[in-house]
Amino acid sequence: MVSEKTLSPGNNNQEGVAVWLTGLSGAGKTTISIPLCEQLELMGYRVQRLDGDVVRQKLTKDLGFSKEDRDLNIERVAFVAERLVKHGVITVCALISPYRDERQHARNEIGRFVEVFVKCPLEVCEERDVKGLYAKARAGEIKNFTGIDDPYEEPEDAELTVDTSQSSLQAEVDAIIAYLQENGFII
Ligand code: ADX
Repeated sequence: MVSEKTLSPGNNNQEGVAVWLTGLSGAGKTTISIPLCEQLELMGYRVQRLDGDVVRQKLTKDLGFSKEDRDLNIERVAFVAERLVKHGVITVCALISPYRDERQHARNEIGRFVEVFVKCPLEVCEERDVKGLYAKARAGEIKNFTGIDDPYEEPEDAELTVDTSQSSLQAEVDAIIAYLQENGFII
């Protein structure tokens, strides 16, 4: 049982947790993670964001998008996240993480783990096409693109689902913060 004292913002005994955002490219994972981290920081928590696009430029530069490489990507991020969480950091991971078994692996590794399904219909993600990658995937210029010619296995047991085609960004951030509060991860 965690006492209120250990959960106090800024307290060195703060317990960490991984907030794992999973969803299609363009669903809104990064968009949610930024204000979520800002709000948690304002509340006094130590926070680290691990974003697929950034991680892939540094930690997993050598990896592509085969199942094996995606699995390795998730395993390396889970390895880092576990250590951060152990040291009391709220670690917000934003990765497509399309495979259920790998998300389960991350959950098992990290322990304190809140899976958030950032839900958005493929058609909406494709219409947004923020990075122009869906158009390239449709044109066959990118292979194994999630949702087009590569799978995305929707979570069956996510702690929380936010549908970014239906709600506002602030409402989504608020829902995640409320979940963390209601379940004793933060106060
Ligand atoms: S994951 O599948 O291994 O979890 P990750 O979240 O790190 O993926 O990276 C996804 C990002 O890589 C996408 O947002 C997109 O910008 C880029 N990307 C490039 N090629 C692909 C692809 N074939 N499938 C999905 N995303 C791709």
